[in-house]
Amino acid sequence: MTLLDGKKLATQIKSEIKEKVLTRAAEGKKIPHLAAILVGENPASMAYVRNKVKSCEEVGFTSTLFKEPETISENDLLHLVENLNNNPEIDGFIVQLPLPGHINEHLITLAINAEKDVDGFHPVNLGKMMLGLPCFLSATPKGILEMLSRYDIPTKGKHVVVVGRSHIVGTPMSILLSRKGKQGDATVTLCHSYTQDLKSFTLQADILIAATGIPEFITGDMVKPGAVVIDVGINRVEDSSNPKGFRLTGDVHFPSVEPVSSYISPVPGGVGQLTVMALIQNTLLAAERKD
Ligand code: GUN
Repeated sequence: MTLLDGKKLATQIKSEIKEKVLTRAAEGKKIPHLAAILVGENPASMAYVRNKVKSCEEVGFTSTLFKEPETISENDLLHLVENLNNNPEIDGFIVQLPLPGHINEHLITLAINAEKDVDGFHPVNLGKMMLGLPCFLSATPKGILEMLSRYDIPTKGKHVVVVGRSHIVGTPMSILLSRKGKQGDATVTLCHSYTQDLKSFTLQADILIAATGIPEFITGDMVKPGAVVIDVGINRVEDSSNPKGFRLTGDVHFPSVEPVSSYISPVPGGVGQLTVMALIQNTLLAAERKD
């Protein structure tokens, strides 16, 4: 069994990007600038955004964080988005989700200029992804492809089973892996909460991608011996023995799945590490497009 070490890959990618930023600076080109809008004080969102800002610093990007109160109106948030759309200093920006209930997330996503949508959530980027055109791929699918690529795991002719059909992970993953060409050409089965006899599908998977949001949902008896298992989940489960009161766990029950698999990504230290890098890679791409 080989551990798909997201932390190690993230360190590699960071140093590659840092190098590119230094080269850009030496050539007098613009230093990539990522902005993030954080609304309210959701602890998980705060942690994610902190991580994104920290990664920007580590690779030499400029970053700006807009911390807005939970009570911000939809209109004021739309104005802020519009300001960032029009600010030439900012190459790309994200609005951290989820947003408070009184704000329509779709409306906000649609308001982001697709050229600056480094999250890849705008319909223009999702449509381009479907057509196989150059676009900003959203962070988790991009991170998973990066992980498969850097571990030389082929997808051609393989049976990939994706469990979970979210707009940001399961659905794009199924499209990317089934399309023609490099890192595609797989037969993909997309399973979800209404799938009957889920185990009969997961047991067929050469590559199993777990993106259910249910802690430790995939157990060893559901996995074909020798399968590649990618765990996308990052779940906080209560743990009184931990000083924080919780621990992070994936959608895969690691102790029972690890002995059956050929490759497995851990949580933490797996895909999550690469999602932040995907955002950083997209921001570099946004800056390069303007060169
Ligand atoms: N919330 C959870 N994941 C993400 C992400 O990748 N981008 C944004 N904007 N919000 C999120």
